[in-house]
Amino acid sequence: MRIISNIQQMQALAITLKREGKRIAFVPTMGFLHQGHASLLREGRRQGDILVLSIFVNPIQFGINEDLDRYPRDMERDCRIAAECGVDVVFTPDAVGMYPPGFQTGVTVRDISLPLCGASRPGHFDGVATVVTKLFNIVQPDVALFGRKDYQQLAVIRRMVTDLSMPMEIVGMPIVREADGLAMSSRNAYLSEEQRQSALCLHRSIVIARKLFSDGERSADAIKKAVLETIGQESLIMVEYIELRDGNSLEEQEIVDNATLLALAVKTGQTRLIDNTVLGEEL
Ligand code: PAF
Repeated sequence: MRIISNIQQMQALAITLKREGKRIAFVPTMGFLHQGHASLLREGRRQGDILVLSIFVNPIQFGINEDLDRYPRDMERDCRIAAECGVDVVFTPDAVGMYPPGFQTGVTVRDISLPLCGASRPGHFDGVATVVTKLFNIVQPDVALFGRKDYQQLAVIRRMVTDLSMPMEIVGMPIVREADGLAMSSRNAYLSEEQRQSALCLHRSIVIARKLFSDGERSADAIKKAVLETIGQESLIMVEYIELRDGNSLEEQEIVDNATLLALAVKTGQTRLIDNTVLGEEL
């Protein structure tokens, strides 16, 4: 496994590999890898001749009061997990290389970036779209893999790749959960034991919503109410949003159908957690 920090070196390697006809699979991350990332890497290993993992905590996707400075980092452990998953190249650029003095270009994916997480994190998806575009230009993947836990991020990237005719395939991979149902996230490292227990209400409410849907409930309001009742029982959890939206366009839906996204965001202490499910879809 090679570790490359230099942008030009990574790009030159990618160009050479492409000339040799190699298919590059790419998993972009901010590090502090968990089993969710490992599932992306294993699928990437299956889909590509060469598997590239990037680790870069992207400053421009964090708001001023967010957790950029305390975002968890553990390069040694990440490299161990990467090696176990068969990664060929770990790309670890630094912020000055990615955003040199004078940097002033950004990518905005308009409407789909605005609701849900975009409403409480203004500019967040511009930061994501911009860094992912840069990473794609450097790594030149044939296929890039993203987790469906960040459902809106995946929708934004799919839209961007289509709109800008980027020549690659985007694969969305299922949410990976702990045994007790908590969706895996690097930010789970912030949770106290008490907060973690409270956070289980997210998955509990998803199970209830899925049961209501399979029993025939189609009113978005009724499903939202049941989810809110479940989450509302936890005093340590503050709801940011509970929304039902079209799984592709992310437009609001009053009547739930087979591809309706139920998206949840909450806060416990300083930690923001998100989770989701697509109603009508097999898990
Ligand atoms: O999902 C993430 O870890 C990040 O948002 C991404 C896609 C690596 C961009 O910084």
